[in-house]
Amino acid sequence: MIKVITYGTYDLLHYGHIRLLERAKALGDYLIVGVTADDFDRQRGKINVQQTLEERVAAVKETGIADKIIIEEYEGQKIDDIKRYGVDIFTVGSDWEGYFDYLNEYCKVVYLPRTQGVSSSELRAKKSSVKIGMVGYSSFLNKVYRESKFVNAVDVTSICSSDFTKLEDIRKETLQCTDNYSAMLDNVDAVYIHSHPTLHYDEIHKALEAGKHVLCESPVVLLKKQYDELLQLAGKKNLILMEAIRTAYMLAYSRLLLIVKSGKIGKVVSVDATCTSLSTYGNFGENSKKWGSLEDWGPTALLPVFQILGTGYTEVDFFSIEDNKYPGTDAFTKVNVSYPDATATIKVGTGVKSEGELIVSGTKGYIYVPAPWWKTDYFEVRYEQPEDNKRQFYQLEGDGIRYELVEFAHAIQNSDAEFYINRNVTRAIVDVMERFKNRYC
Ligand code: CTP
Repeated sequence: MIKVITYGTYDLLHYGHIRLLERAKALGDYLIVGVTADDFDRQRGKINVQQTLEERVAAVKETGIADKIIIEEYEGQKIDDIKRYGVDIFTVGSDWEGYFDYLNEYCKVVYLPRTQGVSSSELRAKKSSVKIGMVGYSSFLNKVYRESKFVNAVDVTSICSSDFTKLEDIRKETLQCTDNYSAMLDNVDAVYIHSHPTLHYDEIHKALEAGKHVLCESPVVLLKKQYDELLQLAGKKNLILMEAIRTAYMLAYSRLLLIVKSGKIGKVVSVDATCTSLSTYGNFGENSKKWGSLEDWGPTALLPVFQILGTGYTEVDFFSIEDNKYPGTDAFTKVNVSYPDATATIKVGTGVKSEGELIVSGTKGYIYVPAPWWKTDYFEVRYEQPEDNKRQFYQLEGDGIRYELVEFAHAIQNSDAEFYINRNVTRAIVDVMERFKNRYC
């Protein structure tokens, strides 16, 4: 019996896939199809896949062509599979010509001509993308725009700013640039807000009233009652109001949460997160307001605190130093969050520098994420005995912003924005901002 194996993502299964499977089967007597796992696709930078692994496997199964379906989960697995299943022929489409020649050592490699005129990418592009308008003045928007190019479910079409001094890169693009927010709202499906936090409430309110979805840089607002009101408005209008903390959407970070939740380090008693950046000063235009340290970094640093320890905290204490360069803003703030049986500390600074690490301490072990932990691809699970330590590595493409945009588009399609950051966490972040404001402003 001649055994043939082939691999693919098979997203939105199309005629080209079916023809490939038929011809692969015809090369022998038994066809094994490897479908790539979601994680594996994400790790190799394929982030736009629309269907889940289950849906993609079901579609391949339904063709009735495969004798066996397996999941491809790691780099180098093809060699293992070929040996394990005694495969005689490995085949893929000619778009991979030459790429898998190294498998000749294990079996015969055949490249089949690719069917012209159809691909998953094209089908995804044809599905209507979410038209996004950006609002703000920080140079960070240049990055968001660049990253949006990797996500075919979204299309950044315009930008509204009162100060373009740091946005000259974007001005050169074929974007509509305006200072009229209402006019921009008329021409988009959704907005991404990265203006000063004191402006968020009005901007979100206007967007929701105009029937537009919102992705807002955290802190979403600075008062709990404003957040509750906006959430209610979004619910009434069936719109997404999603918090933008890019760390939440990164694979390594979300895996870290799962490891903690599955009890690998025992009961968590302390979360300590530090985020600082002196470079933030350069991010803002001449005429625009600088964010304080807590506004800038607080939400990111508080994310693991609330996602791991929950939102049932009993006390929040602050230590803060004013920024001489920008009076009225904090150069450094340390926050202690107390729980009945746990504690957390965050240190944030835009005028003070420190080691940007995250440590989650538990009764059996701890997790250590080296600086800069908020955009990490790596962390360690450490124990008393160093030989028990485990290192975890997850590929991160770009700055993680693209994952956030993918999830925003998914949230709009599925009417659910809570998979990554639930509203209790967002509300707790707003609560810390409000307490800080009451104390210092
Ligand atoms: N394939 C093909 N003809 C096409 C599209 C795909 O023969 N028009 C083959 C690929 O060469 C591969 C298999 O089908 O062997 C699975 O491809 P996959 O990457 O899942 O599909 P694409 O449509 O190429 O997806 P994308 O656009 O995301 O790259």
